[in-house]
Amino acid sequence: MIAPAELKRERLEPLNVTSSAFKESAYDYYARLRNEAPVYPVKLPSGQTIWLISRYDDVQALLKDDRLVKSKRNVPGTKSGPALGFLPFIRVLERNMLDLDAPDHSRLRGLVHQGFTPKLIERMTGRIHSLSQELAWKAKQKGELELIADYALPIPMTIISEILGIPERYRDPFHRLSTAAVDSTSSSNVLAALPAMWRMVRLLRQVLKVKQANPADDLMTALIEAKAEGDHLTEDELLGMIVLLIIAGHETTVNLIANGALALLENLTQLELLRQNPDLYKTAIEECARYYSPVEVATERYTREPIEYAGISIAKGQQVAGILASANRDESQFVSANKLDLSREKNRHLAYGQGIHYCLGAPLARLEGTIALQTLLENFPNLQLSVPREKLKWRPGLNLRGLERLPLKVK
Ligand code: HEM
Repeated sequence: MIAPAELKRERLEPLNVTSSAFKESAYDYYARLRNEAPVYPVKLPSGQTIWLISRYDDVQALLKDDRLVKSKRNVPGTKSGPALGFLPFIRVLERNMLDLDAPDHSRLRGLVHQGFTPKLIERMTGRIHSLSQELAWKAKQKGELELIADYALPIPMTIISEILGIPERYRDPFHRLSTAAVDSTSSSNVLAALPAMWRMVRLLRQVLKVKQANPADDLMTALIEAKAEGDHLTEDELLGMIVLLIIAGHETTVNLIANGALALLENLTQLELLRQNPDLYKTAIEECARYYSPVEVATERYTREPIEYAGISIAKGQQVAGILASANRDESQFVSANKLDLSREKNRHLAYGQGIHYCLGAPLARLEGTIALQTLLENFPNLQLSVPREKLKWRPGLNLRGLERLPLKVK
């Protein structure tokens, strides 16, 4: 067994893995991690230490490892929950399935599954098409396109809002609050996220009140009814579920669309291949998710007991996270892993996670991503970056990979 001190750590600089600059060169760093320090403790700006796991096999194993738990309360010997658990809105945020373990996780996931069905997603196909066309048409009139704000973000935000039945006037505030919360939590600075989260929960309580008085054919009504029918869904869990669906439903898919567009613009031969062979969209959307994975690092887990990965031991109660972006570029799993290959077959990437927390929205994300990219390419045969590549900046943060802006020439 190798003790962490024996890792060739002196050669790997301890970088701030949440910074925008790090994201630009992250793939080189991950390659070194996989070779030299596959289980590597880093200190986040918040002062917390997190063990990063970088090899494909290890990341896949940890996502399914029940010695790792999502809720710190499930680490034996941990008496209390997070220090702020007395705040009602914090309890709401803790009660979402991504932060829970069995049996609560399975109960909540089972409930949302009843409403979030393949049929519902299929029903959204026409709407995603018309929305993408409408946004592309607006960009044509304007003669330019900031892909994030004008296209990649409004598509998933509108669709998840329509699925849930969130009235239009609440969508912008929800997006602003969700981004503020994600930006702060992504550096693991939970305190900085509190004001936005507090406002989000307060706003959502208003929306729920209106919805309770005016039930409709939407997912929020279905969840309210599940609660009313005594399906073991508490008020906090209902709120927590909706907050999770809003955040997870758009903060990630925006990156699939925009990162996918960037990957294509950086690989013009592949872009041309896709234009000539629309049949390739099915494999292309998987390759886009693998190449610039929208979720860079899976959400953190805690060790319930001492564990060992790649011969390195991690003590009980430690935070551990798998770098999905690194696993997805692991040469032991993918041939020419650093190459964008839109025809790649057997693409077993981990962009949507694995195990019990496997992304609930993956089929919706794939559908939105495919339609958004296809509509973009069909409408704009001369798509180009309108700033030099080196001017593009990745948003800071540990968990997501997304650009701040992606200005494009469309003529
Ligand atoms: C390209 C877009 C997306 C990507 C890359 C993505 C990725 C992921 C990943 C990696 C996880 C697991 C995290 C972990 O285990 O730490 C996850 C979970 C989840 N995702 Fe997504 N997601 C996307 C879109 C969506 C959409 C559109 C929705 C909802 C409508 C959604 C809802 C969820 C939910 C509810 C969970 C938690 C599942 C659970 O805990 O059982 N996601 N997603």
